[in-house]
Amino acid sequence: MSQRYVIANWKMQLDPAESVKLAGEIVRLWAAEGAGRTEPKVVICASHVALAGVAEALKGTGIALGAQDCFWEDKGAYTGEISAASLKKFGCEYCLTGHSERRGFLGETDDMVRRKAAAILRHDMTPVICVGETMEERQAGKRDAVVISQVRAALADVRPVGTQTVVVAYEPRWVIGTGQAVAPDDAVSMHRLIFDTLHELYPADVVERQFAVIYGGSADSKNFGGLLGHDVIHGALVGGASLKADEFVRMARLAADSVSA
Ligand code: PGA
Repeated sequence: MSQRYVIANWKMQLDPAESVKLAGEIVRLWAAEGAGRTEPKVVICASHVALAGVAEALKGTGIALGAQDCFWEDKGAYTGEISAASLKKFGCEYCLTGHSERRGFLGETDDMVRRKAAAILRHDMTPVICVGETMEERQAGKRDAVVISQVRAALADVRPVGTQTVVVAYEPRWVIGTGQAVAPDDAVSMHRLIFDTLHELYPADVVERQFAVIYGGSADSKNFGGLLGHDVIHGALVGGASLKADEFVRMARLAADSVSA
């Protein structure tokens, strides 16, 4: 069985002080039951300016730090960008890439996602590669083709070695932030499709050991249990519900219980 993940994506919702406060609340709630647990892996992806404070709050807790984006070059004249190399030095172990809000608002392309995913792995962090179709694409019958091509493009330069891991997050764009997750059957069939694609790209043992596929899009403690019961769903990337410590920790607890069940 693959590692389970519960990953918070705080987006641009919190300032640095609010981020440190929420991290502290999550640490306090999860410490009692999460201490020493390897399942699930709990990760907090904070905004760049909050990383230092959140890193401090998470130190020694077993909760990992993640960033929400990075640039693919290590150094150079790239005004405003932050390298994967610097994020690693800040203590990040995870970094999102290809989030639909970046694809949508900032024109991030598959090619950029490919470079970023490779840079994240090169610096020994786990890329959390977000893929997912829009409602228009789904209605036009292109859902599968879009997701397969996003996965293939993002992974073109990704070759995990040793203990490196890669997380693919299936996030149908039309449910993000709506409060309504997709039906579990729908998520399961998309996760299977992603696994089929991974199996075309990597040997079976690499897929088994080094890849996880998680669900994102209005995941919360009410719908997460129904998703976790499926062996192709390895956790969740959580936006809105990660902004409440008790709700987010409830999701971590559900993932822990699903593994020990
Ligand atoms: P949501 O966001 O849980 O608020 O839908 C998820 C995401 O965008 O990663």
